[in-house]
Amino acid sequence: MYELLIHNGTVVLPDRIARVDIAIQNGKIAAIGEYETLGDAASEYNAEGKYVLPGLIDPHVHMKHPFKEHFAPDDFFHASVSAAFGGTTTLIDFAIQWDKAVSIEDTVRCRRQAIEEGVVVDFALHATPTRSDQQTIDSVPGCLDLGVPSYKVYMVYRDQGRIVEDPIILGLLEAMRKRSALLMVHAENSSIAEYNRDKFVAEGRTAASYFPQVKPNFVEAEAISRAVFFNRVAESRLYIAHLSTLEGLEMVRSAQQSGEMVFCETCPHYLVLDADAYSRSDGQNFLCSPPLRSIQDRDALWQGIADGSISVISSDHCGFSLAQKALGQGDFSKTPNGLPGIETRLALVYSQGVLQERISIQQMVKVLSANPAKIFGMYPQKGAIQLGSDADLCIFDGTWEQTICASKLHGAVDWSPFEGMKVHGVVTDTILRGTFIVQDGQLRVQPGFGKFMHRQPAAIDRQSLK
Ligand code: URP
Ligand code: ZN
Repeated sequence: MYELLIHNGTVVLPDRIARVDIAIQNGKIAAIGEYETLGDAASEYNAEGKYVLPGLIDPHVHMKHPFKEHFAPDDFFHASVSAAFGGTTTLIDFAIQWDKAVSIEDTVRCRRQAIEEGVVVDFALHATPTRSDQQTIDSVPGCLDLGVPSYKVYMVYRDQGRIVEDPIILGLLEAMRKRSALLMVHAENSSIAEYNRDKFVAEGRTAASYFPQVKPNFVEAEAISRAVFFNRVAESRLYIAHLSTLEGLEMVRSAQQSGEMVFCETCPHYLVLDADAYSRSDGQNFLCSPPLRSIQDRDALWQGIADGSISVISSDHCGFSLAQKALGQGDFSKTPNGLPGIETRLALVYSQGVLQERISIQQMVKVLSANPAKIFGMYPQKGAIQLGSDADLCIFDGTWEQTICASKLHGAVDWSPFEGMKVHGVVTDTILRGTFIVQDGQLRVQPGFGKFMHRQPAAIDRQSLK
C-alpha cells in the first residue's frame, strides 16, 4: 500500500500532459499510472479539475537581505512560507561574502546553518564572493565539496565592495570549466552606473523616474557582452541573472547560436511591469537592479522565453518593507534595491504567459521547474514528475480568478509590486518530499522542515531546455 495517492489531476509530465495518478512512498514518486490503476494508499488526494505540476524551483532568491544596518523582514521562515504558498518547493539563496575576512567556504557553511533553522522548503546556495583576488578563484573546489557548484558574482556595486573585477571573473570561469561548475553574473557596468548616479545626484535629479536613465539598456548589455566574451575565451558555462533588455537577449541568443554554454533567466517584474512604474507616486518602491524597462523590452523577453533563448523565470525575490523602501526619502540613490515576488511567480506567468498564448503550459513548467533543476544540478531529483524523483508537487487550480493583494500573501513583506493585478490560478496545495507543506490554505510544517540540497555539477543538455 502506498502512503499517498494523487488522483484525477491533469499532470504535467516531462514529455506530455496526462490524466494519470501518482503514488508516493518514502517521499519519492513510486508509481505513475493510468486513472485508478495503481491500487490502494493510506491517504488519497483528489486533484480533479486541477493541474499537478512538479514543485517549482526558484533559483534566485534573497532572504533576509541586508541594507545598511537593516535586514529585509522576509527572513528564512517567512520567505520560504511565501514560496510554499506559491508552489515553490526548492529555492536557491545566496551566500554573500559580506565580510571579506571570512572565507567564501565559511560564508557558505554559516549561511547554510542559518537558513536550515527557519526554512520550510528545500534550499540550495550560490557562493557569492566579493573578493577580487586569487582566493576567490581557489575557492571553487572547496565550495564544490560543500555541495555548491554554482557561483554568482556582481559585475556592479564597486562602491559597495560587492563587485568582482574582470580578471577574477575570467579566472573563476576557467576554474569552473575544469569542474563543470556554473557562473551566474549580475551583469551591469559598474563604472557607468556609478558615474551616472553621481551626476544625477549632483544635479538634484534623484526622483525614481530618473533611475532608468542612470542604468540605460546598454549598461546591462555591455556587461553581458563582456561576460559572454570571457566565457567564450574560457570555454566555460555562464548564466545571466535577471535579464531585462532586448540588447542583452540578442547577445545571449547569438552566443547560444554559436554553440556556447550561455544560459539566462528573466523575472516576472520584467515581464509584466515597465518603467512607467517609476513615475507613479510610489515609484521608489519599484527600484530594482537592473531597472524595469520598456514595453519593447518586455515583449522581446516573452519572445525569448517562447523561442527557448531564456531558460528560466526566477523571482529575484528581495522583500524589503515599505518603510525600508522609504528610507531613501525619494532619492533613488539611497533606496534599497529589490522587489518581492516569490509567491506570485506562478500566477503571473500562467496568466500573462499561458493564458495569453505566449507560451504553453509545458514551457511554463520548464522555465519554472525543470530547467532550473537541470541547469543547477538538481535534476531529476527535483523538477520532474517521474519515477524515483522527490515527490515535490504543486497542485494548481488554473480556473480561480484572484486579485493580487499583499495582505493575502504569506511572507513578511507589506506590499507587492503586482498589487491590484487580476490573475488566474491559485496554488491550492504544495507537497514536499511526500508531505503536504501547504494544505487547505494552511501551513502544515514547522520551521526547519526544508533540507539543504547538496548539489553536484551536472552535464547540461541545451536542447532539452527548449
Ligand atoms: O535589485 C535587486 N535585484 N536586488 C536584489 C538584491 C541584490 O542586492 O542583489
Ligand atoms: Zn538578485
